[in-house]
Amino acid sequence: MQKDEIPACAGMTISYYSSIIYSQLIPLKLCYLSAYYELYCKPKLFHKSRMAITKEAVLKALGTVQEPDLKKDLVTLNMIRDITIEGNKIGFTVVLTTPACPLKELIKNSCIDAIKKQVAENAEVQVNMIADVTSIRMTGPLLPGVKNIIAVGSGKGGVGKSTVTSNLAIALSKAGAKVGLIDADIFGPSIPLMFDVEGERPRVIQENGKNLILPIIQYGIKLISIGFLAPPDTAVVWRGPMASSALKQFITDCDWGELDYLLIDLPPGTSDIHLTLVQTLPVTGAIIVTTPQKVALIDAQKALSMFSMGQIKVPVLGVVENMAYFTPAELPQNKYYIFGKSGGKELAEKNNVSYLGEIPLVQSIRESGDSGKPAVMKDDITAEAFKKIAETVAQQVAIRNAGMEPTKTVEINR
Ligand SMILES: Nc1ncnc2c1ncn2[C@@H]1O[C@H](COP(=O)(O)OP(=O)(O)OP(=O)(O)O)[C@@H](O)[C@H]1O
Ligand SMILES: [Mg+2]
Repeated sequence: MQKDEIPACAGMTISYYSSIIYSQLIPLKLCYLSAYYELYCKPKLFHKSRMAITKEAVLKALGTVQEPDLKKDLVTLNMIRDITIEGNKIGFTVVLTTPACPLKELIKNSCIDAIKKQVAENAEVQVNMIADVTSIRMTGPLLPGVKNIIAVGSGKGGVGKSTVTSNLAIALSKAGAKVGLIDADIFGPSIPLMFDVEGERPRVIQENGKNLILPIIQYGIKLISIGFLAPPDTAVVWRGPMASSALKQFITDCDWGELDYLLIDLPPGTSDIHLTLVQTLPVTGAIIVTTPQKVALIDAQKALSMFSMGQIKVPVLGVVENMAYFTPAELPQNKYYIFGKSGGKELAEKNNVSYLGEIPLVQSIRESGDSGKPAVMKDDITAEAFKKIAETVAQQVAIRNAGMEPTKTVEINR
């Protein structure tokens, strides 16, 4: 035995031998514990993560997640892209049908749940949510880059079509969509005022030997209105056909480029302008704006029936009830149903179309319109109401595109 291996005294001898025992036993105990864990605990805890994670397993799990509106699973709908797997880190992209999707969070959470339950409980899931707005427009010579054309009509004048269209355009754009707006009210254009671009004049460019009008861009929206082309204080005294040809020019001679949604703010009534629109373009869907009072509902019903009639067949995306109740800014919980209650909702139910939501009558909405900064640009309850309607509209467009035939342009012999 070497000198340094011999204990110098009895006390040291005890501590020497006990240290040997401990140094041998503790690792032995740990060894048993770890074997026990490997054999009995780990398989139970992580039985789903023992196998290597595969793309097939991820797709299988995501194939059980339903798109609540379209009633099909995300894989069948081709909404899953770019799956990546690194150890227990799983990443993928979900391509929504619109950036204004109100179900974004719900879909994301359902994906994470499905992966954790069906692939690996300890997975770190990274979901990237993007949107590619759907379109079933057949590519034709007109507006080939425009995915969806949405007409906003009412029947009765002054019920808030231009207000709703402006706010809808900005809400969709804020959500990430590319949006354009045609002010089809040739005799009473409101869009230049509502977007604070009165006095602007669009530029004209030459493309392939053709003159093209460049829409005015304000708040990210491409805009065209007769108000940009005629002095604002001069009356446009045109016959119907001239007004119709102005609208046609807005469609054919403007550089609209790529858009997810092109909104058309219609004049009141059911006029030549309406017919020109549906004869020139396949309109994806129409929104009807009404106040809840009887006199507005009668006209709204006429507008709704016009879009639905056999020869026209433009799907009605739904009804917006504007000025649903009055509420004073200082007492927002007080609601006064000065134009009646739920008229728009009942109109939607009667016609079996969606109810897109209600907007209260609030002084600040009128003020925002007049000052050229639509209400949805603020951060208050009226902005929330418009944002919600925009989400519902985008949702209805996606549902319409998934389940219905493309709209055809109308041929009417008169
Ligand atoms: N919810 C609301 N609360 C307060 N004011 C509103 C509301 N909606 C619209 N208004 C105001 O009512 C007036 C009429 O609205 P708007 O011009 O949008 O109606 P319209 O249906 O487009 O009219 P027209 O038929 O003349 O084109 C505007 O002054 C607008 O600011
Ligand atoms: Mg208007």
